[in-house]
Amino acid sequence: MFLGLDLGTSGLRALLVDMAGLPVASEAHAYGVSHPHPGWSEQDPAHWVAAVDTVMTKLAAEHADAMAQVRGIGVSGHMHGATLLDDKGEVLRPCILWNDTRSHEEAALLDGIDGVRQLSGNIVFPGFTAPKLMWVKRNEPEVFAKIAKVLLPAAYMNFFLTAGFFADMSDSAGTSWLDVGQRAWSDTLLAAGEMQASQMPTLVEGSEVGGTLRGELAKRWGMSDSVVVVGGAGDNAAAACGVGAMREGAGFVSLGTSGVLLTGRDGYAPLPESAVHTFCHAVPGQWYQMGVILAATDSLNWLSRVTGAAPADLSRELGDTITGPERLRFLPYLSGERTPHNDSRIRGAFLNIDVAHDRKAMTQAVMEGVAFALRDSAEALKASGAQLDNLLAIGGGAASRFWVQTIATLLDLPLELPQAGDFGAALGAARLAMVGSGAGSVEDIMARPAVAETIEPVAALRGAYDDAYAAYRESYPAVRGL
Ligand code: XUL
Repeated sequence: MFLGLDLGTSGLRALLVDMAGLPVASEAHAYGVSHPHPGWSEQDPAHWVAAVDTVMTKLAAEHADAMAQVRGIGVSGHMHGATLLDDKGEVLRPCILWNDTRSHEEAALLDGIDGVRQLSGNIVFPGFTAPKLMWVKRNEPEVFAKIAKVLLPAAYMNFFLTAGFFADMSDSAGTSWLDVGQRAWSDTLLAAGEMQASQMPTLVEGSEVGGTLRGELAKRWGMSDSVVVVGGAGDNAAAACGVGAMREGAGFVSLGTSGVLLTGRDGYAPLPESAVHTFCHAVPGQWYQMGVILAATDSLNWLSRVTGAAPADLSRELGDTITGPERLRFLPYLSGERTPHNDSRIRGAFLNIDVAHDRKAMTQAVMEGVAFALRDSAEALKASGAQLDNLLAIGGGAASRFWVQTIATLLDLPLELPQAGDFGAALGAARLAMVGSGAGSVEDIMARPAVAETIEPVAALRGAYDDAYAAYRESYPAVRGL
């Protein structure tokens, strides 16, 4: 047995899998995010610890035999968060999360330093870890002075589980302190961010053993005293492991709160100016690249809130098949945008509203706006040399055939819908524990899920969607200029 823990933004999920990697049981526990000021987003690590204890205690009560057989644990975490510890391992302040934008000035400053983009492989986004620490230094110097270690959320969970300080490469790549090509902390980047190497955890690969479960916890949760904890992964790399998106060309489109277009890379080929993320993968010798759009299903959820109709009802009004793009256009920048604009200030818009437009037209425009934004990400990925030839469509939004067909047509690529099942970040984390515990090779364990259906692009409509995309491309600079 193996266990994957997915430390997400809204809750923690544990998934037990057997020796074949098949799900046996899962438990989840929700927690909140606090926003003490506009643009701030924080979480108390004590809530993560309480959540893991709750789910593990439940699993121990209901699946005692399986828990006693667990050999390895992997943790996936939401990325970029700064958990600050003093020299006694005590948390100094709430964790500053990935979607916190308070450090946008520090991010711009760091991003402008010569060599930072080249070494880190990425733009320094306001959500990344390094600018957060510069913000703490400037605004909370008494806290900054006490920092003995900075841990990402998954690494903090590793610390809670094992008492050791270790972090995996995929998560560490989102700090702006890692030399992403060399897979090592960079003295140059640490100096630019005013940090010291001693404040960093030890780096391990995601599939490499980092420590052993503390005896006290093993006893409490009815587990053996030799359970190993592997490096784990940032949530996107873990999700990629969960669907076997490891090698060049294997990837996914994820329609979740945010939208992600991700593909595995066999080599390191950053293109920071396109606002594509280039991160280490969670297994040795691999990288991945992704475009991130900040509001995918979040855009549909927003429309649902303002119209009072459930997202599934809005979606049903469109049917399953596309017939051509709407003239009504939606820019999905409800929370700003990452790829390709790196613009935290831009906001969304409806353009070309006609007296004849109704709710259905608005839903179509919203789905198309998200699909255009994903085409932007695809163009950015292709510009870095990435191949996109084997894409799965996952996430809640993939339940809409209409939406997936729109994206397939805009990307001019078939999109595969996996059979129902468990293939999220928790599965990816459990798979990393399997590899780390010697249950099999990366190739054996990180399999693609069975495909239920392939949604093909609609060739006859390709020209019409290309024209609409060209018009969409012109909308951003026009709206930004207003
Ligand atoms: C990736 C990112 C998010 C977070 C939260 O760069 O910011 O995907 O990991 O899910």
